[in-house]
Amino acid sequence: MFRNFSRPTVHVLIASNHGLFRHGLMSLFKKKLGVKVDVVAEVTNLDSAIEALEKRDVDLVIVDYDDEQLNREDILARFVSGGSQKKVILVSLSNPESAMLYDRRELPLSQFEAWFEAWRTSEDKPSKAFAQQEGHKIRTRSSRMKHFVVAGLLVIVLTVLLILGAGQVRLLPVAASAQAEPIDQLFRLMFFAIAFLFSLIVVFILYSIVVFRRRKGDESDARHVEGNTTLEVTWTAIPLVIVLGLSFLGARSLAEVERPDPKALEVNVIGLQWTWRFEYPRYGIVSNELVLPANKQAILYLSSTDVIHSFWVPEFRVKQDLLPGGEEYVRTLRITPTEIGSYKVRCAELCGIRHAYMESPVLVVSQADFDVWVAQQTGESTDPVERGRKWSNQYGCLSCHSLDGSQLVGPTWLGLFGSEVKLADGRTVIADEAYIIESIRNPGAAIVEGYPNIMPASLGQELSDERIQDIIAFIKTLR
Ligand code: CUA
Repeated sequence: MFRNFSRPTVHVLIASNHGLFRHGLMSLFKKKLGVKVDVVAEVTNLDSAIEALEKRDVDLVIVDYDDEQLNREDILARFVSGGSQKKVILVSLSNPESAMLYDRRELPLSQFEAWFEAWRTSEDKPSKAFAQQEGHKIRTRSSRMKHFVVAGLLVIVLTVLLILGAGQVRLLPVAASAQAEPIDQLFRLMFFAIAFLFSLIVVFILYSIVVFRRRKGDESDARHVEGNTTLEVTWTAIPLVIVLGLSFLGARSLAEVERPDPKALEVNVIGLQWTWRFEYPRYGIVSNELVLPANKQAILYLSSTDVIHSFWVPEFRVKQDLLPGGEEYVRTLRITPTEIGSYKVRCAELCGIRHAYMESPVLVVSQADFDVWVAQQTGESTDPVERGRKWSNQYGCLSCHSLDGSQLVGPTWLGLFGSEVKLADGRTVIADEAYIIESIRNPGAAIVEGYPNIMPASLGQELSDERIQDIIAFIKTLR
């Protein structure tokens, strides 16, 4: 209880639609706090409250928290953040034993006295408090400027450091295609924008955490901010303009990257678990490495025989999925290699157990070297073993079957011919010609013990009888 009975009267404005609220409030103030209360006005809506406030001298606005007809949010927004000097509180009397006070936080009745005392002392010397407030305002204006200048400088410093730092780290490999140019330009632009935005956000957060942290012993509440329309419109409009600008640049780069050349070299790229096959229909070449002449556009027709794979040569920048499903799903990709060198195509779509090893060489060579390669590939050898070795390579057999006894996804070919093979169903067979032909044509028919049934059946359909005979001749030599 307060010992001081000489306190002046408190002038309150009550906002409630319930007559009983006033009674409850009066007894709360009188009995619990021993304070004389003068109810200046009782209103039932926001407009009357504003009207009453303009005409009369009010110390405290008390809003009935449990009154559904009053819009609490609206009242708080108008009185608390509207710059009104009046103190507005919400009081709930729905349970008289534990009346609640809502002054931006909930206080039980037991703390009411302490809160009221604190409120009174701050109001007791209005002239001094006002003077302090004015001084505070002037001080905050200049120090607010100072905060913005310091934080702004830090943002610039961090942005520059990030951009310089990224120049040190090689974020992208060498650019080896004409398509890489517009993509890299866009990437650089995006990176600068991201470096700036990252700095803007991080610097302001860290600055606030450090400079505006709560000092020891400071129990006061922060300023209540409901919103800032100017700021919200600004931070919506600026990103909108940035995004529209980027989408325009993106569309322009895409058009540049996909610009067709009618004389482009056609290559069919087939992805299969887990190897690549490259077919040059103009020359009748099938190859397990992609050989491209420099400074000439190649158009790749990409397809898959099993699951989704993805064609990705980081140095060319462009990337495209290979889809199963036939003609309809063939995708194209245009690449104009500019740098002679050897690269690697890797699969960029998780496609099974050997996805990580689904790589093939990509060679960018001069036109003269390309012509030599074409001549070598098209000249058919008279030696079936040589041809068999070539087919095994070209059709990707050797990415699953080793020639040196090491274990890959499939059984090794070393010493295979004529050996006894234990099958998963318990049978033991001799690896003769008939067995090998069946294993190629119908790979699921006889599964070798310890190996999964994963060999693509599509291979058997594509290989002619003659080529299978060549492969068998080649396997026979592996002893
Ligand atoms: Cu094919 Cu991953």
